[in-house]
Amino acid sequence: MQHLDSRLSAIAELFTPGGRGIDVGTDHGYLPVALVQAGKAAHFIASDLRPGPLQSARANIRENGLADQIETRLADGLDGLPLAGVTDIIIAGMGGQLIAEILARRASELAGVNLLLQPMTQAAFLRRWLCANGFAIRRERCAVAAGKAYAVIQAGFTGEEIPCTPLYALTGRAPEDGGEDAAVYLKTLLEREEKRLRGLRASASPDPDALREAEGLVRGVKEILQARGKDGKV
Ligand SMILES: C[S@@+](CC[C@H](N)C(=O)[O-])C[C@H]1O[C@@H](n2cnc3c(N)ncnc32)[C@H](O)[C@@H]1O
Repeated sequence: MQHLDSRLSAIAELFTPGGRGIDVGTDHGYLPVALVQAGKAAHFIASDLRPGPLQSARANIRENGLADQIETRLADGLDGLPLAGVTDIIIAGMGGQLIAEILARRASELAGVNLLLQPMTQAAFLRRWLCANGFAIRRERCAVAAGKAYAVIQAGFTGEEIPCTPLYALTGRAPEDGGEDAAVYLKTLLEREEKRLRGLRASASPDPDALREAEGLVRGVKEILQARGKDGKV
């Protein structure tokens, strides 16, 4: 059976049972292979921008005897990929800005699709973009893998713009994940924002708006962590 680390497992858990998926930037094809092997996905398109990773995915799919259920495609994002009948799209292991750019090019065709997005960086950028472009964040799951904490964002297209405060852009719906890994994710965000705040305070003439926002973020994440602590979740 294909092994998945906790980051990829968190994505797999949010996949629609029996669904038909596209894994953009599949690299070795681990997720499509694991999901089809487990009987959780009926069909996958495993795509990548570069021929090398796609070769690795093809080899993995062939070794596991899954070539009938998992197609491979060389593609930039979702460009040129057939979306009819697709229930889930996974875009994982890339920067948040790149994920947004990929979604933007097919946004109007994504109604009803379960989007599973896992930004390696710029998660706040991605959440802001989703809110501003008619995508609702339905749930987030956090995972710690190789000592780093990640958020998996489950989103869907509604067409409605959603207000996004700086705190929501920073944490999204991670505070609703009651697990240990979410506490690690939130503590990582707090440490990063505290560092940014120290930097701003140390500068000769800090921008008052930036300072106020950074103070608000530090206070907001602390309050989230304190509330979890009271529930015994930290
Ligand atoms: C770090 S790997 C992540 C692999 C896997 N998705 C994961 O989360 O473990 C990023 C992969 O995305 C691919 N990639 C980068 N930009 C892409 C794009 N615009 N369209 C499709 N694939 C892309 C890279 O070639 C690489 O294989």
